[in-house]
Amino acid sequence: MTRFIGKIAVVTGAASGIGRATALRFAQEGATVIAADIDAQGCEQLVQESARQSNGKIIFKHCDVCLDADLQGLMDFAAHTAGGIDILFNNAGAGGARETIDEIDADGWDRTMNLLLRSVALGIRHAVPHMVARGGGSIINTASVAALSTGMAPTAYSVAKAGVLHLSRMAAGDLAKHSIRVNAVCPGFIKTNIFAASMGLAGDVRDKVNSMVAGMAEQAQPVKRGGMAQDIAGTVAFLASDDAAFITGTHVVVDGGLLIGPRHSWDPAAPRLADAIRQIVSASSSPV
Ligand SMILES: NC(=O)c1ccc[n+]([C@@H]2O[C@H](COP(=O)([O-])OP(=O)(O)OC[C@H]3O[C@@H](n4cnc5c(N)ncnc54)[C@H](O)[C@@H]3O)[C@@H](O)[C@H]2O)c1
Repeated sequence: MTRFIGKIAVVTGAASGIGRATALRFAQEGATVIAADIDAQGCEQLVQESARQSNGKIIFKHCDVCLDADLQGLMDFAAHTAGGIDILFNNAGAGGARETIDEIDADGWDRTMNLLLRSVALGIRHAVPHMVARGGGSIINTASVAALSTGMAPTAYSVAKAGVLHLSRMAAGDLAKHSIRVNAVCPGFIKTNIFAASMGLAGDVRDKVNSMVAGMAEQAQPVKRGGMAQDIAGTVAFLASDDAAFITGTHVVVDGGLLIGPRHSWDPAAPRLADAIRQIVSASSSPV
């Protein structure tokens, strides 16, 4: 498909996982993609991979989404280098503070909100003038199944992601006058580095944890396979495209059916995902 020829897309968290797969998908379909991340090495690999197989092209821009000046710099860079912004995928993230509400301190709360919620608001804020100059656009924000249900992730993360959902609805109302659509995507358990990274794991242990989480998800959720970053990329590409021209202010859940009830509710042999994740964490030799 070539839905994004002539389009300019900004993707945050593009060095890894969901952002990486989505940046590649946009470029494969013809877009010029500004790939933003704090991981320069990961993005340089992405740029090289895309150069071998894409219709469009990917350009790296360093950006820490916790910094307002970096977000403004990213959006201005897209406008000056590529000519504007048509699509914004606010996606960068990590696990955030892991404490419960009776243990978390102000710093953990602020760090998590800055990374997962404030970054999305300010990213939108700085992209809008460049989208208006192009006559409109599409914004997609990464939320999570943790925005819709308890028991999926730590408290601060889940609350921030719930904020992303309502921010998406409010922004859709605010920006309709500029022909800018705003939606969110809610991934379930997707095989990326996020679980291992939030435990501070790297290298072989990280790869092992990634595979274990994907394997457990595969057994615990209704759709019998692990979620892949490409599953989210396909949904984000749809929401960014003209096929979704009548869709704004909502979210799409992409979770293999996890939210309708894990498989252990009707299959006694299926493991409970939360138990499995606890086992993985306690089996890890690194401090968590
Ligand atoms: N993997 C899942 O199961 C899952 C489920 C629901 C939601 N999500 C969300 O999907 C998004 C992408 O996560 P992923 O699973 O692809 O993880 P990932 O760890 O593979 O990728 C996250 C990327 O974000 C980047 N990043 C982190 N902090 C940053 C910062 N301050 N500034 C710029 N970039 C930063 C990282 O360097 C990394 O490249 C996150 O918002 C995450 O919360 C993931």
